[in-house]
Amino acid sequence: MAEKSDAWGSRVGLILAMAGNAVGLGNFLRFPVQAVQNGGGAFIIPYLICFLVMGIPLLFIEWSSGRFGGKFGNHSTPYILDSMVKGRVLKYIGVFGIFTNLAVAAYYCYIESWTMSYVFHSIGGTFVGMSQADVAAFFGNYVDISHSTTGIPYEAVVFYVICLVINTYILSKGLKGIEKVAKIGMPLLILFGAVLAIKGLTLGDSGASEIFPDANAWDGLNFLWTPQYSSLLDLKVWMAAAGQIFFTLSVGMGTVHCYAAYLEEKDDVALNAVSAGFMNEFVEVVLGSLIVVPIAAGYLGLDWVIQNAGFGMAFQTMPYLFQQWGPALAMIAGVLWFGLLFFAGITSSLAMGTPWIGFMRDEFGWNQNKGAWSFGFIALILGLPTVIFFQEGVFDEYDYWAGTVSLVVFAMLETILFSWVFGMEKGWPAITNGADIKVPIIYKYIIKFVTPVMLIVIFVGSLFKPKDNDWSGNLSNLFSGNSWVLDNGSIIKTITHAGIREQIALATDPSVIA
Ligand code: PHE
Ligand code: NA
Repeated sequence: MAEKSDAWGSRVGLILAMAGNAVGLGNFLRFPVQAVQNGGGAFIIPYLICFLVMGIPLLFIEWSSGRFGGKFGNHSTPYILDSMVKGRVLKYIGVFGIFTNLAVAAYYCYIESWTMSYVFHSIGGTFVGMSQADVAAFFGNYVDISHSTTGIPYEAVVFYVICLVINTYILSKGLKGIEKVAKIGMPLLILFGAVLAIKGLTLGDSGASEIFPDANAWDGLNFLWTPQYSSLLDLKVWMAAAGQIFFTLSVGMGTVHCYAAYLEEKDDVALNAVSAGFMNEFVEVVLGSLIVVPIAAGYLGLDWVIQNAGFGMAFQTMPYLFQQWGPALAMIAGVLWFGLLFFAGITSSLAMGTPWIGFMRDEFGWNQNKGAWSFGFIALILGLPTVIFFQEGVFDEYDYWAGTVSLVVFAMLETILFSWVFGMEKGWPAITNGADIKVPIIYKYIIKFVTPVMLIVIFVGSLFKPKDNDWSGNLSNLFSGNSWVLDNGSIIKTITHAGIREQIALATDPSVIA
């Protein structure tokens, strides 16, 4: 146990830092893709339900656990859990969070480094006059690091290292540094996002061309926002919705515990948790759905968007679409878009650094500086394979294991610990003491019963994910006496490595990352 060595400067700073932790690349790159791939309006109801019965409860659990452990001078998830439940084994569940953060930070900072590089390329006019295929090819060449597109050898590696150094330097300044970045980055992000969203909203069919005469930005918005009730019975959509909620709220990783550990015992957690959570949802469902999807639908049509929805759209398509506004506006739009992504990314990657730093402090008494630079170094070593072997699918393996599976496992374990081992008799006051809002009592029962059951269902579901994610087909197959065919992405099949080879083959296409 170490001294309480650092503290948040102000409540605004804390909320912005927590919102910055949550608001990330996931809001702008992952959410629109998940929504489109899962049927647009079909996605949104399961998504909002998951937010209310899993997202908010997990925020309450993580914020209150963090404040609880912080009282005893703990700064990292294993120590925080140790102050709640006695038992060596249980304590080490928290270690999960630390390694997940290192692995996610490694590949997340790689995307973050693309956004930096693309800001410079937008300013430098790299995309001026390029065709759609040229812009897409530029990205392909960029991530193929042996290939220099701009004369800078190993440009992707150079930007990656610069990005890690920036993160590490800020982290070495402690909470003050994180708070300052959030105070500058979050308002700018919202401003940049609002400008682009207005463009998305007002584009209409003015971008339609001879090739895509029917293109209309409103088709994209209607597709996302017309609810479809049929999907309520489709487990695949529920799994995707739950996965997005975890990722976007940054729960199941330990970052929230670590930030909340610096709260005072009398500080509110309930209202803070809800405010940061809703801020993330505003940025996600409003700004996140008003940029990529409508702008792409406005030029290329909704069908194109549905067929090409992928993580690469942001880098492979947007710079081309911006060119349609003329070189000056294209430059501004590029800076706004990639700048927005950069601020979204860095406020999240800083959060991923804190669990490691906090653990090294709790366990070995390391200071902030030593913690920060060791984090940067480990992220670099873990990240280089994703950079060098990007095309071989290493990146996707990281995203799958660290960015998806681990979050569900950890969230499930911590919820069971909180609701059943620590117990709601202590858990409810841990959430409501000092609260500036009255938390509806129904949440006591949701946290005790609904959240753990949902998490267990999702975990078991991902163990047995059926082929092609076709739950209904496989269920009726099973009931008619036939077998259940596992998907290559199901955890069981991946653990036994039966699916890995095929997955890697699929993953060589950079557009399947999200
Ligand atoms: N919530 C972040 C996003 O939406 C990602 C993240 C996950 C950040 C876990 C920190 C911890 O991009
Ligand atoms: Na988010």
